Amino acid sequence: MTDDPALDTLFLPFRTGALAWPEDGRALFLGARAGAALAEFASPALTCEQSFRPQAAALEQAGLAVSAGVEGRFPLVLVLPPRQRESARALLARALDRARPGGMVVASLANTDGARSVEEDLARLAGPVESLSKNRCRVFWARAGAGDPALRAEWAALDEPRPVAGGRFLSRPGLFAWDRIDAGSALLAAHLPADLKGRGADLGAGFGYLAAEVLDRCPEVTALDLYEAEARALELARRNLEPYSGRAELGFLWHDVAAGLPRDRRYHFVVTNPPFHEGGRADRHDLGRAFIAAAAAAMRPKGRLWLVANRHLPYEAVLEQAFTMVRRVADDGAYKVIEAAKGIR
Ligand SMILES: C[S@@+](CC[C@H](N)C(=O)[O-])C[C@H]1O[C@@H](n2cnc3c(N)ncnc32)[C@H](O)[C@@H]1O
Repeated sequence: MTDDPALDTLFLPFRTGALAWPEDGRALFLGARAGAALAEFASPALTCEQSFRPQAAALEQAGLAVSAGVEGRFPLVLVLPPRQRESARALLARALDRARPGGMVVASLANTDGARSVEEDLARLAGPVESLSKNRCRVFWARAGAGDPALRAEWAALDEPRPVAGGRFLSRPGLFAWDRIDAGSALLAAHLPADLKGRGADLGAGFGYLAAEVLDRCPEVTALDLYEAEARALELARRNLEPYSGRAELGFLWHDVAAGLPRDRRYHFVVTNPPFHEGGRADRHDLGRAFIAAAAAAMRPKGRLWLVANRHLPYEAVLEQAFTMVRRVADDGAYKVIEAAKGIR
């Protein structure tokens, strides 16, 4: 078993002969992830859709075509549904829309991520479903064409953008803290100093809450780059920040911050509420540390970092290493706000 059992299990029915790969090789892979199991089936006729930059980059490195919002119909649509229920339902509906009549939709998920319920959802949408279990995952498949078109249209709309936070922002299911303002980000916003100025960056900008707060609270900010790996969040950040477009120069970068920031971008300040999970449930301290290192490397002399994190996350050592001044500005028992600066004691 590899480190991506759901991906391994997705291809199981093709290995056992329960399903045949299309003769012309044409297939669409929604929520695609790179891995050894995929390499076996990779070909120029396989189109991948992946909105999360690090995974899209891994697919590209494996020589696969990655597109956004693929149109057309396919004889085979593979799906790795997310854990979030509404997003998973919307993706299943989209998979059925992209399958040609009589084509096959095949999905796989870890049992602990709700494989049984998603299998039941596919049955509700498409009719009879077959399945196999392995690696603590289930792979299940159904033929497109029958099923319930009204329910499919209803579920396809489940992850559409909608107003949140009293209508101030647009968000959608599946994004980080999608239906509210995150308490950690709100704590950081409340402590932002009004004297942040010049060019800044928001690392892991989500749908743009923190960036909007910076622009509201810090009148001397002239430019702000929003870095976000999830294209579905970045698209909304762009829409949410539209009212600020005359106020400062805004940049929107679909980017893996853990890989470092572009060399030609240097900042007077950085704000961030770094991610601490990626897909799985386990804390990923390395992600937050990589964000801190990326911020430090992109800082101009005397540049300032404003960061919020769950208070148990061990970021102090990397902060002390990368910056000359580190201070805890606030701690509400759940989150800590830290300011760090370079070239200042
Ligand atoms: C804790 S959330 C903060 C979101 C937003 N700034 C807020 O305040 O609500 C972290 C964000 O980082 C994004 N992210 C995760 N991994 C990333 C990576 N490698 N590079 C860039 N952004 C990433 C996530 O999609 C998520 O939107």
